[in-house]
Amino acid sequence: MSISYPFIRLAQHPLRTIIRSTPVDKAAGATKQHPMETRHTLNLLDIIHTRRSIRRYLDRPVPPAVIDQLLEAATWAPSAHNRQPWRFVVIETAAVKAQLADQMGERLRADRLRDGDPIDLIERDVQRSRDRIISAPIVIVACLSLIDMDRYPDERRNALEKTMAVQSAANAAQNLLLAAHDLGLGACWMCAPLFAPDVVREILDLPLDWEAQAMITLGYPADAGKPKGRVDFKDKTIYR
Ligand SMILES: Cc1cc2nc3c(=O)[nH]c(=O)nc-3n(C[C@H](O)[C@H](O)[C@H](O)COP(=O)(O)O)c2cc1C
Repeated sequence: MSISYPFIRLAQHPLRTIIRSTPVDKAAGATKQHPMETRHTLNLLDIIHTRRSIRRYLDRPVPPAVIDQLLEAATWAPSAHNRQPWRFVVIETAAVKAQLADQMGERLRADRLRDGDPIDLIERDVQRSRDRIISAPIVIVACLSLIDMDRYPDERRNALEKTMAVQSAANAAQNLLLAAHDLGLGACWMCAPLFAPDVVREILDLPLDWEAQAMITLGYPADAGKPKGRVDFKDKTIYR
């Protein structure tokens, strides 16, 4: 099915005018920031540079057709052997979001208690994570399936095939984040499902071959996200 792009683009994005140079993220050791100025239209490089993780959303529903566009954009990611091992669970139901948030929160609490972290910090983080999930209009759980990937007689190559599936699913998730930004939505990748795969499987009644990799919260942005910088690529690149 081909889908056209009639929805809000960045040119009409209500937050577009506040996308501009932001302070460098010194805490993260960043030395460079993208010199983004307000523009009338944003091309792909602009979209890449101005996407930020958005964790607070307006109380405004995301139309199903927009979600379809995001998922469709996700599926144009490159994947190993073009096997497209990504799978998605779209969660719109408040009760399902709450169940997931509560039970993943319990797992986080138990893990952090075992680490010996102060209880007040643990509760703060558990609450913050819960709030983010339940206040997001849409939550998408990105999964992978190995069902169409190659199988080998040895564990070494099976493990590599799994790595390729993880990489492919991450590519799809990144496509989804960029498409969301292009369409005027905000999104944030959350790693929580990785820490509670059994909980996610049970609550979402996942098909047996699906493995949860990430959770993407999604909605129309209530803020522009935290300003972030990046370390200059030259500090992370070698040439031979
Ligand atoms: C694999 C992965 C896991 C992440 N997990 C979380 C998370 O659990 N909670 C969260 O708030 N952000 C999470 N993020 C978002 C990062 O914190 C964010 O991308 C990073 O700080 C850079 O900020 P930016 O996305 O605004 O550029 C995750 C991102 C990735 C790629």
